[in-house]
Amino acid sequence: MSFAPRKYQINHLNFKPYLSEREVDSAIKKIAEDINKDYKERTPVFLITLKGAMFFGVKLLQNIELDCKVEVIAAKSYGSNMHSCGKVEVQESSINLKEQDVIIVEDIIDTGYTIDKLLKTIQKHDPRTVAVASLVAKPEKFCVDININYLGFSVPPNFIIGSGMDYDERGRNLSGIYILEND
Ligand code: IMP
Ligand code: MG
Repeated sequence: MSFAPRKYQINHLNFKPYLSEREVDSAIKKIAEDINKDYKERTPVFLITLKGAMFFGVKLLQNIELDCKVEVIAAKSYGSNMHSCGKVEVQESSINLKEQDVIIVEDIIDTGYTIDKLLKTIQKHDPRTVAVASLVAKPEKFCVDININYLGFSVPPNFIIGSGMDYDERGRNLSGIYILEND
């Protein structure tokens, strides 16, 4: 079952379908195929950032055909519901990433401040390699230099929800991706 209304309203804001569940799923499968090839003979650690990347993370892992580990990390970005102010808090974690091949799984890279902070936090754990897999990125909004190894979609700067992404904690359960009207 998938939840895919033709319109979705949150606090008087209207969202309309932008990418279908099918398009999202096929992009995720493609990322999984690339990772399956690139990490042969290795045991990567998929580090899923909560909460947004839970959905992408589960779908991605269902298509991973490797011996692998799964961990989660929480990152919180401050600002309004739609704009990051650049202040990011990453929950310090006791996960052991020493000498590991880490793949950070993100839902969306907007300004890039969150992934930048995550990368800096993870580097302190002495991993062997670190890669970034993100379902969506908004390159026009990047404020820092970010290298994304695996990307589902490059999208315009408009606000989006669905497939794990929220507005005011709502809309994560929409299948596919919805875009704010008149943004
Ligand atoms: P950053 O600006 O790259 O640091 O992104 C910060 C966080 O803001 C992301 O991890 C998302 O949780 C959230 N975010 C940024 N843009 C969007 C969007 O278009 N929809 C939903 N969440 C977003
Ligand atoms: Mg997020």
